[in-house]
Amino acid sequence: MARTIAMQPGDSPPGKSLVGLYPPPVAGHGLVLHPWNEALLAQIAAWGARGFPYHAFDMTQLNQPSRARGVLARMTENGPHRHFVAVEEGTAVGRASVNLRDEAGLYLWSVHVPPEHEGRGVCRRMLATLMEWLEEEFAGGPDFILSTNAFATHAHRAYGALGFETFETRWHYDKEIAERLWRVGPEEREPVSKHVRFANGRWEVRTHLMRRRHGAPMSTGPKR
Ligand SMILES: CC(C)(COP(=O)(O)OP(=O)(O)OC[C@H]1O[C@@H](n2cnc3c(N)ncnc32)[C@H](O)[C@@H]1OP(=O)(O)O)[C@@H](O)C(=O)NCCC(=O)NCCS
Repeated sequence: MARTIAMQPGDSPPGKSLVGLYPPPVAGHGLVLHPWNEALLAQIAAWGARGFPYHAFDMTQLNQPSRARGVLARMTENGPHRHFVAVEEGTAVGRASVNLRDEAGLYLWSVHVPPEHEGRGVCRRMLATLMEWLEEEFAGGPDFILSTNAFATHAHRAYGALGFETFETRWHYDKEIAERLWRVGPEEREPVSKHVRFANGRWEVRTHLMRRRHGAPMSTGPKR
């Protein structure tokens, strides 16, 4: 179960206070969820990149001070979204965002674990912690919703383990991926080839829409 913990001097990354907008750090499943701050952003800027088709998750742009300032401002602004960084023993190991006001439900997005931390349950543990907190905050509230590109098989396994079920699969125009698909060679395109099509004069990606009801069983796996 997720629990909020009081800030102790020295045990949380320095950052500006977001009292009222964010909860105190939320702990669960061996990690702690924090709002973004400068120190965490600096760690995220150093995360390993994956390239196509996950180029949208490459964070090296954060090494440019002007980009970093803009992103931090967006990540901490008061609006429908809440953006969290998962921290394990002081190290930023993942990130996830939630749109609290999407008409489809509590919409999870920007779920990202860098390659150097993947494969040991960070995704499952961070989303479990986030959803347990949201289930308390929005008791009886809307379902959790997310969308995932069909080629993102690791993400799909993690979401399935957390009780998400696909309720719709559709072809989706993703501008960034579509633009890259014109530029990548056959070898780079191969891993996604089963999940993309050229139709209606553009590249489209097969996308699953998934839903999880509050309280659905979650398995966060044995790995740490
Ligand atoms: C998808 C992603 C968040 C998964 O993070 P993670 O912390 O590695 O995920 P978990 O360990 O909780 O579980 C994911 C599943 O993929 C498997 N997996 C993860 N990395 C793996 C690897 N390198 N090799 C083999 N399997 C791997 C895990 O074993 C697990 O499967 P299991 O439950 O059957 O054991 C991460 O790979 C990522 O950020 N990818 C790029 C961005 C992305 O796809 N985001 C999701 C958009 S919808």
